[in-house]
Amino acid sequence: MRQTVVAGNWKMNKTPAQTTELINELKPLVAESKNKCIVCVPFTSLANAIEATKGSNIEVGAQNMYFEESGAYTGEIAPDMLCEMGVKYVIIGHSERRQYFAETDETVNKKVIKAFEHGLTPIICVGESLEQREQGITVELCSMQTKIALKSLSADQVKKCIIAYEPIWAIGTGKTATTDQAEEVCKAIRETVEEVFGKDAANEIIIQYGGSVNAGNSKELFEKENIDGGLVGGASLKAADFSVIVNS
Ligand code: 13P
Repeated sequence: MRQTVVAGNWKMNKTPAQTTELINELKPLVAESKNKCIVCVPFTSLANAIEATKGSNIEVGAQNMYFEESGAYTGEIAPDMLCEMGVKYVIIGHSERRQYFAETDETVNKKVIKAFEHGLTPIICVGESLEQREQGITVELCSMQTKIALKSLSADQVKKCIIAYEPIWAIGTGKTATTDQAEEVCKAIRETVEEVFGKDAANEIIIQYGGSVNAGNSKELFEKENIDGGLVGGASLKAADFSVIVNS
């Protein structure tokens, strides 16, 4: 049985002080949860998040990182910088980064490989646009994104990955994929992993759904065989809502 993993992607929200406040509100609400709870906060809030989550069952992730160790890359953050702070997870290839910051399947792969070199667990995002869904290429596309993102990894590394299936048309729109649509693609992603890395990797990899997950729909989504939790945007900014999702 795979553990249910719920991660909040705070995106570009919350100052350091607001981060401490929100985590302090969240801590007692998720303290009894059997599911894993991660908060992926802005870089500038990582120190506060690490401090505020000490001794709790909440873990901390970043929302991006660069694929080089150090050097002349103005504005970028290296994996070591995250590790030294106590960060355990890093979102890689979110559709907003692909759309606005020129992230490609190839840079996603480089970052995933680099994350593993440093012991960071990547939360790799894949997903189709509305146009691609209407063209009927969703499964093909997500399968391809998955294959490229995981290229050159070992089966043991793949077992430790988290993949988040996030249909772009469902992000921040209030339009959730139906549980059957989400399950269909998560299952296809798992089959892709099996095809390339074998049955054990496919059985162990965590596959989340993301896109307008809220306190009202999380339970039904997470009950699906191939959906092992969620990557949550808007609803992760409210302790009451996010805790319901974490406890689903
Ligand atoms: P929303 O939950 O706000 O739709 O965002 C989803 C998302 O992009 C999480 O990474």
